[in-house]
Amino acid sequence: MRCCIANSSTLGDRVLTNAWTQLRYHELQAKMWRSKVRFIIAACGRGSGKTELARRRIVRYLAVRKPWPDPIYFYGLPTYKQAKRVAWEQLLALIPQDWLKGKPNISDMVVKTIFGSKLYVVGMDQPQRIEGVQWDGGVIDESADIKPGTFDRTVLPALAHREGWCLRIGVPKRYGIGALEFKRAFEEPGEKTETFNWPSSDILRPEEIALAMSKLGAADFREQYEASFEDISGAIFYAFSEALNVTEDILYNPSLPILVGSDFNVDPMSWVIGHRVGKDKVHIFDELSIRNTNTRQTLDELYRRYGQHSTGFEFFGDASGAARRSSADMSDYLQIRNDTRFSGARVYYPPANPRIASRFAATNGLLCNAKQERRCFIHPRCTHLIQDLKSRAYKEGTSDPDDYGDVGHMTDALGYPIHKLFPVRLESTGTDQIYSSN
Ligand SMILES: Nc1ncnc2c1ncn2[C@@H]1O[C@H](COP(=O)(O)OP(=O)(O)OP(=O)(O)O)[C@@H](O)[C@H]1O
Ligand SMILES: [Mg+2]
Repeated sequence: MRCCIANSSTLGDRVLTNAWTQLRYHELQAKMWRSKVRFIIAACGRGSGKTELARRRIVRYLAVRKPWPDPIYFYGLPTYKQAKRVAWEQLLALIPQDWLKGKPNISDMVVKTIFGSKLYVVGMDQPQRIEGVQWDGGVIDESADIKPGTFDRTVLPALAHREGWCLRIGVPKRYGIGALEFKRAFEEPGEKTETFNWPSSDILRPEEIALAMSKLGAADFREQYEASFEDISGAIFYAFSEALNVTEDILYNPSLPILVGSDFNVDPMSWVIGHRVGKDKVHIFDELSIRNTNTRQTLDELYRRYGQHSTGFEFFGDASGAARRSSADMSDYLQIRNDTRFSGARVYYPPANPRIASRFAATNGLLCNAKQERRCFIHPRCTHLIQDLKSRAYKEGTSDPDDYGDVGHMTDALGYPIHKLFPVRLESTGTDQIYSSN
């Protein structure tokens, strides 16, 4: 018999809400839905239905009778903020009105039902909300971002008395504080544990998969959409090829605005200079790498080289540059804005920095996407940038860049404009939208 994750508007004899839309039959989703094991680990692709299934599962359990009168469940995300944004209202929409006992408590994110059960929506960054209670079951969403040790130290003991179940779901990410722990849990499942793994293409439309292939480098695509646990090893910019991304053909074009990516590190100040070409290409034709300098002197050098340029400048940097002072009373960005030699320049900096992993992914996606298309080209005179693309690597066994000395500044400078113009998000937004628009 096919399973009924939601192919009817009822669950047994109970009427469900409109949020229980009909899902297409998917063999592994159906198997997961039916599974009775205590622990389930689902490492599946982006947008592949993990969260949808987990929400429905926990709501279904609210109506299940237990030997005790007060079954209690949690739906956890890495932070309270995320839980509030992507779980609370979405769970409420799945719970029929006539199941509710009293009004949902919005400030504590708790729902009580007429069956005596309760559902808490929690941020796993507040383990005290889990500890000290014996739970009947729970979901941990975005597991690769959960602080290591949380499951063993906080969750497992809290499930012991009632033999509670736990569904741990996430993308098999390389980055994220809990990525390694999630990988181990998936690869070495303990007793009473079942694992699931299916790619995004089982659920997402082919156009969405094609879009992801054009935005992401091969390893990021395999990880995010094919649900493959990729190794973190070696070069951060794995998509870069000196033979294929570096070419003498990349030239300054007086008819295009000049794009400047700036890392406001004082030593060495590291800026890349290029153009956006057509809709989706970036050409870097020059760089500035200057020791013991400041923003003002670097602008002098930019002016010396390109002061005659008349079709505009666009400056990109990171959020900390917006706040940090590089002289007594003016931030780096204010200096650029107030420099009359560049009047009319557009100055972009994000209000907060994107996750570094997303910036690296955007850069790799432009250097060479999963369709093997290259859209970022660099002139050989940019020796510091090329060296940094070749050599910047992760610290062994971690997803932290092993930056020392001059390493990292030039590729950061390149990453700011790329991430602004061609953004990629590796973290779930909790909506169907995976890429922000340009
Ligand atoms: N079997 C299915 N048939 C039809 N639609 C589905 C099916 N499974 C999931 N969906 C839909 O796909 C969309 C993405 O699902 P969901 O948000 O659960 O993905 P996810 O795996 O949690 O993604 P992310 O990794 O971004 O968090 C939702 O709109 C969901 O309703
Ligand atoms: Mg999700």
